[in-house]
Amino acid sequence: MHLAQIQTSTTTPPKDEIRFRMPEEGDGAQIWALVKESTLDDNSMYCNLLQCTHFADTCAVAEMDGEIVGWVSGYIPPQEPDVLFIWQVCVSEKARGRGLAKKLILSLLHRPACAEVRRIRSTITADNQASWALFGSVAEKLGTVLTRRPHFTRDNHFDGAHATEHLVTIGPFEQPKPLEVVRAA
Ligand SMILES: CC(C)(COP(=O)(O)OP(=O)(O)OC[C@H]1O[C@@H](n2cnc3c(N)ncnc32)[C@H](O)[C@@H]1OP(=O)(O)O)[C@@H](O)C(=O)NCCC(=O)NCCS
Repeated sequence: MHLAQIQTSTTTPPKDEIRFRMPEEGDGAQIWALVKESTLDDNSMYCNLLQCTHFADTCAVAEMDGEIVGWVSGYIPPQEPDVLFIWQVCVSEKARGRGLAKKLILSLLHRPACAEVRRIRSTITADNQASWALFGSVAEKLGTVLTRRPHFTRDNHFDGAHATEHLVTIGPFEQPKPLEVVRAA
């Protein structure tokens, strides 16, 4: 499969093409299973159902041959309307290394709901090399900087049970033109 085949239309794509779309409530169970298979903290299926409904405008799935192989969940924090906060990004092992995670994140910036977004934020533990590489690559694609600082700390917030999560900020950036950045990623 060539990445140029990635499309966003609603027609049925030919075999092995990857299609990005908004999640629907019927996707919740598949997304839950995808996250559970990964190294990410799993959430309740109910949480995924809320993401697929109330937060669908800032979440996306990547679908290949009718199967969900990629997922990004995000939201716009009520106090920060110019921020897209990325909660989780997950790509199934068979679809990794093709730029899917990066395209999933960038695809959200073209949504009407993200018209005012000028920064992306997320939290990453220090040892998650894949995430640092992914968000670094997103910053590079958007032509802006990535900054980090400790946010939820092991001792103050996780009662020693979880590594410190560093707050990552990408931006500020200008809103990309529709699909221009995703296609060129
Ligand atoms: C992390 C993850 C989402 C990456 O998905 P992916 O579709 O393979 O990532 P992409 O192909 O879009 O890669 C984007 C960039 O990150 C880099 N990258 C991806 N995985 C990497 C890894 N394991 N180690 C180092 N760099 C990595 C790529 O080289 C690429 O860099 P480039 O654009 O400069 O070439 C996927 O491995 C995954 O689901 N992991 C388990 C869950 C997880 O850790 N999620 C992230 C935390 S929310």
